[in-house]
Amino acid sequence: MCGIVGYTGDREAQELLLSSLKRLEYRGYDSAGIAIVSGEITIFKDKGNINNLSKQIPKMKGRTGIAHTRWATHGVPMKNNSHPFSDCTSRFALVHNGIIENYQEIKDELMKKGHIFSSETDSEVIVHLIEDFFKEIGDTEKAVRATVKRLEGSYAILLIEKESNRIFAIRNRSPLVIGLGDGENFIASDVPALLEHTSSVIYLQEGDIAEVTPERVLITDHDGNAMKREAQEIEWSLEDAEKGGYKHFMLKEIFEQPSAIQDSMRGRWVEPADRYNHRSLRSIKIVACGTSYHAGLTGKYILEEILKIPVTVEVASEYRYSPPIRENSTVILITQSGETADTIAAAVEARRRGGRTIAITNVVGSTITREVDEVIYTQAGPEMGVAATKTFTTQLVALYQLALRYGVESGRLDYDDAKEIERELRLIPRKVRAVLDSHEDIEKVAEFLRKAENMFFIGRNINYPTAMEGALKMKEISYIHAEGYPAGELKHGPLALLTSETPVLAIACRNATFEKMLGNIREVGARESPIIVVGFKKDRRILERYADRVIDIPETIPLLSPIPVSVALQLLSYYTADMRGAEIDRPRNLAKSVTVE
Ligand code: G6P
Repeated sequence: MCGIVGYTGDREAQELLLSSLKRLEYRGYDSAGIAIVSGEITIFKDKGNINNLSKQIPKMKGRTGIAHTRWATHGVPMKNNSHPFSDCTSRFALVHNGIIENYQEIKDELMKKGHIFSSETDSEVIVHLIEDFFKEIGDTEKAVRATVKRLEGSYAILLIEKESNRIFAIRNRSPLVIGLGDGENFIASDVPALLEHTSSVIYLQEGDIAEVTPERVLITDHDGNAMKREAQEIEWSLEDAEKGGYKHFMLKEIFEQPSAIQDSMRGRWVEPADRYNHRSLRSIKIVACGTSYHAGLTGKYILEEILKIPVTVEVASEYRYSPPIRENSTVILITQSGETADTIAAAVEARRRGGRTIAITNVVGSTITREVDEVIYTQAGPEMGVAATKTFTTQLVALYQLALRYGVESGRLDYDDAKEIERELRLIPRKVRAVLDSHEDIEKVAEFLRKAENMFFIGRNINYPTAMEGALKMKEISYIHAEGYPAGELKHGPLALLTSETPVLAIACRNATFEKMLGNIREVGARESPIIVVGFKKDRRILERYADRVIDIPETIPLLSPIPVSVALQLLSYYTADMRGAEIDRPRNLAKSVTVE
């Protein structure tokens, strides 16, 4: 998500911070800013890139400072929403990475007390809360401790104070690393920002509060107890460091999914109150491209099951040129980038035809957000790999949330049933982590596929789109020709292609179609095709009788199974592609964002 750097020492901070910040550009960002202490605190920040910022700012004197690149989560990219933020007394300035879940509640409280806010961000409330506690307690360290006890969510924070050379570095579910120098210290959200200056680092742990001055680093927990953290030597090259030690961005992004999903689940959940009246909702149309289209196809099963209304899904490039029939549906446009030309054109067209439009996107302020009536943001953070991974699973989270909300508000879903699904959904990050923990087993299964030239992915019901997405991942990064098929359709064509050289991956998570699926797997076995089955761990014994290889995932309710299954399939494609020496992060002929028709 956002990039953070901090410096305190005997050198001028401005140049050093800006060049360290540039090391984080690879992560993607929309705004940048810097704050330097020289008696008072001076802040410069703006929308746009670091070069743009560097051109505007005068020489700032001072040897302690913090800087930030922002990837918008609350509030569109603009100067006021950029970091650093200061409090009403200009005593403090801070930068923040992460999401404060209870920010609205804190903001309301502080506004009643007279605090004036300049941005729409969640981050700004932190510095005002510190100011508020400081007013009461008169001690910065204590004010910081009191503040973190109020914050819910994920945060990596750097705080500076006027007339001081210390920086507070605070970590909770968002990384921070301290670089140790001689008479100077560095802090960053990511190692690449430090490597030029030092290779000796301390990784802060959850709940750590570090007080960093040029001479020392003091780490404590929320209650002030000293915490011992060993310094480590980093031996990564800059390129390795950008990928967080992973071989590819795609693998890094696959492994980021537990937190991306968690972050995307924050915010308002189902409530018994009938706030909106969705009773008149008669049908829904979903329009998207590529992986987002597959999220849409999964969304059809989710929404139909929960809302019991018809849902149609169309590829954006088809929808936009379809006959201009009056649109009676609510139209959901799914696009992680928010910039896909066909999806934007489809949004404009849907509105013109009279539809109520909702966008699900990962980029705050992207073009699609200006073309629709309502926006739901996923919180996956920037995705560098061309093949979508974390943006896909977080789109599914958005669709589950939307379905639950509409279900309860329209009276079509019982509140207790909604709570039950919500409870299961909250367990999903943990289950995804378990799939990731089994990566070595999945890598062994990939070995089985490395020589394949053609393969099929089959599934039924809600896992039919999962099979399509699995096939898309496989073809785009490993260049194996892969097709996703509804298992029941095999006998209407594809069976003719099955030989001992054509592996078939079947998704068989226990649900109403489980027995049917086993029957389909038998049909495949009769053609001697190598078979891989993905299913729940508890069914492993049964599945082993049908398959050459089994990938098991933790059990969840069938409705939610596409998330853990997709993560397993992403890993399978990744390892297969890697064994075949494919490029992975930049597959041939493909682009991350297709802004042409
Ligand atoms: C490109 C990307 C895909 C993505 C698709 C739709 O083809 O390579 O990964 O799924 O565009 O992108 P969107 O940003 O609209 O989700």
